[in-house]
Amino acid sequence: MTQQVVCVAAIETSAGPCAGQLEATPQERIIRDTSRLNIRLQIATFGVTHLRMCPVPVSFIQDIAPLFDARDVTCMAHFGVHLKDPDYMRDAAGNDRFPDHGNARDVYARLTGNATPRMPMGGPFWDDAQLQLFNQWVIDGFMA
Ligand code: HEM
Repeated sequence: MTQQVVCVAAIETSAGPCAGQLEATPQERIIRDTSRLNIRLQIATFGVTHLRMCPVPVSFIQDIAPLFDARDVTCMAHFGVHLKDPDYMRDAAGNDRFPDHGNARDVYARLTGNATPRMPMGGPFWDDAQLQLFNQWVIDGFMA
């Protein structure tokens, strides 16, 4: 808080109506420069923290679709389940089991084994990181 007050004072003297009229002493310049550096550091720290709190949302096309292989896609197309198709997977419509996004939620239930038989049929099943990524895609709002 002290640093911010000093910095605001320094900015006002260098950019206000008396700008250029008062020569700062060496000590004042040191305080001013240090304050500006501190503010920059605070902004940078805020930026890094903020970025960590708001990571890029999971994308279906970039992050989820590549997790399905050709066998998954071919097998499931016979059942009308289009695993790599964003329009199918992002469809907001509900069904008998889920009030919204029934297609994606059915797929997730099969991937986790909450609905059986667990998929992909015969395994190998998705690991925790892959399941978490899919779940994060759901949380992030089924982004394309
Ligand atoms: C990650 C890959 C896969 C996912 C997410 C997935 C998802 C699903 C879903 C959502 C259903 C239910 C469909 C419905 O209710 O009509 C289903 C059923 C089925 N899937 Fe898959 N599938 C995957 C891979 C596979 C593969 C590779 C095969 C074949 C080798 C396969 C064979 C089947 C069969 C036979 C059923 C019907 C099972 C039953 O409910 O009795 N699936 N799958």
